[in-house]
Amino acid sequence: MSSGDLVADRRFDFARDLQLKGDLAAAADLLLQATDLAPGFASAWFTLGDIREQLGERDEAIAAFRKAQTTDPDDRHGAGLRLMLLGAEKLSGMPPAYVRSLFDQYAPKFESALVHDLGYRGPALLFKAVLAARAAVRKPAFFKRAIDLGCGTGLAARAFATEVDRFIGIDLSPRMIERARATGLYAELELAEMVQGLGSRPDASADLILAADAMVYLSDLSPLLREAARVLAPGGLLAFTVETHGGEGVILGKGLRYAHGGAYVRSSIAAAGLTLSRLDDLSARNEDSAPVPGLVAVAAKA
Ligand SMILES: C[S@@+](CC[C@H](N)C(=O)[O-])C[C@H]1O[C@@H](n2cnc3c(N)ncnc32)[C@H](O)[C@@H]1O
Repeated sequence: MSSGDLVADRRFDFARDLQLKGDLAAAADLLLQATDLAPGFASAWFTLGDIREQLGERDEAIAAFRKAQTTDPDDRHGAGLRLMLLGAEKLSGMPPAYVRSLFDQYAPKFESALVHDLGYRGPALLFKAVLAARAAVRKPAFFKRAIDLGCGTGLAARAFATEVDRFIGIDLSPRMIERARATGLYAELELAEMVQGLGSRPDASADLILAADAMVYLSDLSPLLREAARVLAPGGLLAFTVETHGGEGVILGKGLRYAHGGAYVRSSIAAAGLTLSRLDDLSARNEDSAPVPGLVAVAAKA
């Protein structure tokens, strides 16, 4: 993001070059000059925080990330998340403006990066789990009305295309929604934060709700699970993937996605009034050539 000051912007560009070349001290120096010229320059503060962290200067990194937050209250860079990882702030939700800007930038290369480079398999895992949950209660896996939360480019709708009559997609990234629209798989697409988007849907108006690799961007799952329980028709299913960890509760991972413990997922589903049909230890993607620990959940509305 530009500071509005040409000289400060140039200092910032040089600093980024130096950072990439590994000259962190010189980059930090240039960023300080840029922030002297333009004290409200959030990108420079954020990059300075990043460099201070790389240099092992924790207190200075925290101070710079805090500046990035105050100079951009929407927090498009995700400085708040970096403060959580540094232990300087307690765990809280992800700024919607950060998620939007992340996925707007990611949209053109999303499928090649995720599917080919990271072996992404979330939609296929959900499909198998939903078929198995339906087979277990001897019901056909056919759904009239489905909602795809955090629909992205439409990979989940593609996986379920033959089993669903009418798909609604909800996502907060306009660029991802554009790509989902181009698939022609959705009867309706809504640009919204997923809990709010689901919250505006009528009671008992969906037979299937999917969230493939989307709940990893929510720390507290309870508000979404409560809305899902309300929006599902009796007998309807909610199926989702999360990343997980061996401990209790919810943590923020180094990749800036939340990981939800198995016990947390079980108790949140029960507290929302849904019945867990399946909870399988399955990984939806790889990182550093290894599967990221994950869970695939299917919950039913009685
Ligand atoms: C990793 S992508 C997964 C996309 C798709 N479900 C798939 O399986 O390919 C995550 C998507 O969730 C969206 N997203 C993340 N947090 C969201 C939120 N709170 N509300 C709405 N969409 C969200 C992002 O914009 C992105 O398109």
